[in-house]
Amino acid sequence: MRNPEQVMSDLERIFREQYPDAFFLNADEPDSLERHLKAVEWISADEKIMGIGHPGEGNMNLVLRVRTNQQTLILKQARPWVEKYPQIAAPVKRVEAEAKYYLLHRHHPNLKKHTPTPLGYDAENFLLALEDLGENADFLRHYQRGSVIKQDELTVLINYLSLLHNTDFGAEGRSFPDNTELRTLNHEHIFKYPYAIDNGFDLDTIQEGLQNASMAFKSDHALIARVDELGSVYLGSGPCLLHGDYYPGSWLSTEDGIRIIDPEFAHFGRPEFDVGVMLGHMKMTQMPNDTLKAMTDGYQRPNGFDDDLAVAFCGVEILRRIIGLAQLPLDLTLEERRDLLEQGRNMILKPIECGLPR
Ligand SMILES: Nc1ncnc2c1ncn2[C@@H]1O[C@H](COP(=O)(O)OP(=O)(O)OP(=O)(O)O)[C@@H](O)[C@H]1O
Ligand SMILES: [Mg+2]
Repeated sequence: MRNPEQVMSDLERIFREQYPDAFFLNADEPDSLERHLKAVEWISADEKIMGIGHPGEGNMNLVLRVRTNQQTLILKQARPWVEKYPQIAAPVKRVEAEAKYYLLHRHHPNLKKHTPTPLGYDAENFLLALEDLGENADFLRHYQRGSVIKQDELTVLINYLSLLHNTDFGAEGRSFPDNTELRTLNHEHIFKYPYAIDNGFDLDTIQEGLQNASMAFKSDHALIARVDELGSVYLGSGPCLLHGDYYPGSWLSTEDGIRIIDPEFAHFGRPEFDVGVMLGHMKMTQMPNDTLKAMTDGYQRPNGFDDDLAVAFCGVEILRRIIGLAQLPLDLTLEERRDLLEQGRNMILKPIECGLPR
């Protein structure tokens, strides 16, 4: 039975009518979950579910940790809405990109060792089972003042990206889903929403004075025009497999080292996007310039890599995280945010002058 306190959103009602046989993950329904896991043969016939928990904070999907009498596993279901905002539609096909991203890793040991092993993919029910990496912290804590990402951790993170972008995934790579629907949703939040004057999001609820500070960017037509062009590059295709959301929330520190999760935004695109996003977040953690330099020096640029494009994407990511909807636990004063916004604008409009940290 559904928890009576949970109100079904219109999206959920419509979807359930369209797909009456779909299996819905629900932490309060262990019996039906156990039946389903046995039907897809992710657990054995004599296995018993002992507990269901929430492994960590997620916004987009329902992610559960299931403990049986023999193992634990992570289940991730993409529903046709955003889990945290059930009135906002989101394409279920995103789970296919995530599953195939992990599957593409399987013939590449140096990539594979940094990601959870996919244990099962139930395409019909938009459900993925992943190896449980344990109860680990992600890197979001590093936005806190004084918390630094260590040099050796940074090396692992940038080496993974270099290898990802320089690996030829062959025919399987060429048939990778284009993930257009999820990218279109992301495009709106990265390249459009932050610049919409009437988007209804009062930035003063994040920090007093931020709304006013944002107006200089929302009314900058040259900036908006360039951001639009960059948005088209993002929506286009490119030569490399991208993680698509390469930021501290997608990195877990485990006893066995760093693990990369949540590649639902993966697609073949311009590698400059992943690099720019990572660099933007490193700047938002207030990483010193010489460490940033070590990071960009360590990245092995694939053929045709355009430093200016990476710099511009870095600027876009900074702006969207400070004046867009997808806020982060940043530990920055208003002045520091203003300064980063100005830096971001320069990176977008004058990437050649800014350059990657050297
Ligand atoms: N394989 C795993 N092992 C252990 N913990 C995991 C695993 N996968 C996810 N988690 C935990 O669950 C959280 C949510 O997972 P994930 O980021 O994949 O969900 P999401 O809904 O896509 O999140 P977001 O809305 O941030 O994109 C992670 O931050 C992490 O703490
Ligand atoms: Mg996600």
